Amino acid sequence: MAREFSIIGVVGLGTMGAGIAEVLARRGLGVVGVDFDEEGVARGKERVAHSTARALAKGKIGEAEHAEILSRITYSTSLDDLAEADLVIEAIPEDLDAKARIFAELDKIVAPEAVLASNTSSLSITEIGVHTGRPGKVVGLHFFNPAPVQKLTEIVRTVVTEPDVVADVVEFARGLGKEPVVIGDRAGFIANALLFGYLNHAVSMYEQRYATREDLDAAMRFGCGYPMGPLALLDLIGLDTAYEILETMYGQSRNRLHAPSPILKQMITAGLLGRKTGRGFYTYD
Ligand code: CAA
Repeated sequence: MAREFSIIGVVGLGTMGAGIAEVLARRGLGVVGVDFDEEGVARGKERVAHSTARALAKGKIGEAEHAEILSRITYSTSLDDLAEADLVIEAIPEDLDAKARIFAELDKIVAPEAVLASNTSSLSITEIGVHTGRPGKVVGLHFFNPAPVQKLTEIVRTVVTEPDVVADVVEFARGLGKEPVVIGDRAGFIANALLFGYLNHAVSMYEQRYATREDLDAAMRFGCGYPMGPLALLDLIGLDTAYEILETMYGQSRNRLHAPSPILKQMITAGLLGRKTGRGFYTYD
């Protein structure tokens, strides 16, 4: 029988971490959300409040359920508050050294049986796991943006991840109403390995003024049935995150498809990160 995880830690309360915390709380689980300072916690809390208020306004949840969801998440600025967690999902930005440090710390804080998961999009789970004394209990658990909406979770196993841990995390993901897929530890896993060549190509076409941003996006929405065009999707993902994913994949595969288009870096330097900064390929209110 699959092991049940009942207290879940989420480390990093950015777009993904806050979305994951919401998914968990909406399924009735207790969540401890950790960010590194009060400001980070306040922003994470605000993200969850905003997203659940939207569900309330749309009548998807009632007042009482809304209050319950919010009460299931406690917030902290200290990893020490994760001592009771049986599963911790790390969702900080894509920085291998920072992730390695957090996993090494978590390893000392949580119980020996607890599972440590990373929401990384492209970094190596193996390289993260070796910084703990329990690499067999380290997996990738990758959600998609927006986490409350997208059904996919990629579960990444390394050569040392225990099969029971993979099976338990697969069942856990199903219990969240997600569709789990299991893959080995290769940059980009399945979805990003396929998606980002296409997104990067769209950026190049935009950079070469091949077509307007609207027409590039319209072609893929109306011609291919994608819910969003590639440039609007990059704005949702965040240009900084997209750049890091491309760099990591390019570093590993040397596939030219993944060599980040130069304009991406320029836009990042200019602060055009997409929706989260109010401007990317498009401008947002
Ligand atoms: N949080 C919670 N719910 C959200 C949401 C958010 N941020 N954004 C949208 N929703 C919900 C809405 O409440 C709405 O729910 P109902 O239908 O139940 O009312 C539903 O999603 C549809 O939303 P909207 O009507 O506002 O807008 P839409 O129909 O245009 O859908 C979208 C918006 C869900 C983002 C859709 O355009 C979409 O699926 N886009 C593609 C997103 C995608 O490809 N994501 C993967 C990115 S890659 C990634 O994440 C991997 C990585 O590592 C970077």
